[in-house]
Amino acid sequence: MPYEFSGDDGLNKSTNKVMVVGAVLMFLMILIFPLYLSVEPTNRDTARANQQASLVTSGAQLFDQSCASCHGTDGLGGSAPALNSKQFLASADDAQIELIVSVGVPGTQMSAWAQDFAGPLTSEQIKSIATYLRSLEPNSPDNPNWRQGKG
Ligand code: HEC
Repeated sequence: MPYEFSGDDGLNKSTNKVMVVGAVLMFLMILIFPLYLSVEPTNRDTARANQQASLVTSGAQLFDQSCASCHGTDGLGGSAPALNSKQFLASADDAQIELIVSVGVPGTQMSAWAQDFAGPLTSEQIKSIATYLRSLEPNSPDNPNWRQGKG
């Protein structure tokens, strides 16, 4: 027995029991911690990918409802500029797209869409539209005349 309290067998037994339980718990934690470390980043990546995918889906719906009438189906251009264009998407980052959609282009058909500017959309909805447009970029057509829309 690792510890002996002279003349108290009961105390010896319970002390050793507590030490064994403690040691087992410690080993379990040592085993589980690396497992946690290896699983956790994957969970976070998955959560981020899922969030991204749901932004793209809701952004696509909003674009269909609110933007496609001018900017064309899939943003390929209409009476208003094509947004689904390699050149446009390369020239504007997400923050710029969100800003222009939020405040609009005064003196043109492009109205302000953000609720802060008396438009109908929340900032989350506008972010989802920008995320949707960005998701088109890898397959976006070459269209240097994107500003002309479809004429
Ligand atoms: C009534 C027609 C109309 C609707 C609906 C509309 N737009 Fe526009 N949009 C325009 C026009 C016209 C322009 C070009 C303004 C200009 O002359 O600079 C424009 C410009 C833009 C630009 C800037 C392109 C550039 O010149 O850099 C973005 C981005 C944009 N719109 C996004 C959207 C989004 C997203 C929606 C839906 C929430 C939307 N628009 C709805 C007409 C529209």
